[in-house]
Amino acid sequence: MDDRARLAGVLRVLEELGCRELFLDDLTTEEALALAAGSAPSPADAGNPLAALEARAEACQKCGLSGSRTNVVFARGSGTGGLMVVGEAPGGEEDRMGLPFVGPAGKLLDLLLLTIGFHRGSVYICNVLKCRPPKNRDPRPEEVAACSPYLRDQLQAVAPRAVLAVGRFAAQMLAGSDASIGRLRGRVHRHEGVPVVATYHPAYLLRTPSATRDAWQDLQLLKQVLDEPS
Ligand code: URA
Repeated sequence: MDDRARLAGVLRVLEELGCRELFLDDLTTEEALALAAGSAPSPADAGNPLAALEARAEACQKCGLSGSRTNVVFARGSGTGGLMVVGEAPGGEEDRMGLPFVGPAGKLLDLLLLTIGFHRGSVYICNVLKCRPPKNRDPRPEEVAACSPYLRDQLQAVAPRAVLAVGRFAAQMLAGSDASIGRLRGRVHRHEGVPVVATYHPAYLLRTPSATRDAWQDLQLLKQVLDEPS
């Protein structure tokens, strides 16, 4: 299949998902073709350590998830706005496309980010796990242990001004706590000196719309953190 056919395939999936204009607006044609070919780092990565890290992740076989994945789901977005979002693990759509948060939960995440003025292309978005756990089961400790060096290095390379941890799993990991997401949200934690705001996972918000107000408040807190002079 040539690059154009692959790109057409990716765009068809996006269209099915209802996000027909989301993808290309932050990519040059070259970047979009490279991404569609499944071989390229995301545009912000070109020429920086993230590209090498992504290449390592693409070849990773450190845990059993490497045997069941369709694609490694490394990251999307540039992080130029100083914001990094960390979720739990890729779902089915993400595994198929090799990009995080492209399914319905991802669309809600995009909307939440827009409420604080962040277009998805300017936010660096990734997950604790880079490969999909079968049937979307919870990540296992050995998988997290194998994968966490990638997240550590992503944090170091992106050097965000703040991190939004979405869902219990990412929140507990980044806050270094096993408290519930209900207790972790609503305040600022620190991970390696970087402020971390936790909120509900957008998949949970889709099932529990009444929690959206809390999530909106968490995003306001995140905005305050980002607006603080550094
Ligand atoms: N849920 C996550 O935590 N990450 C994704 O990329 C998709 C769904």
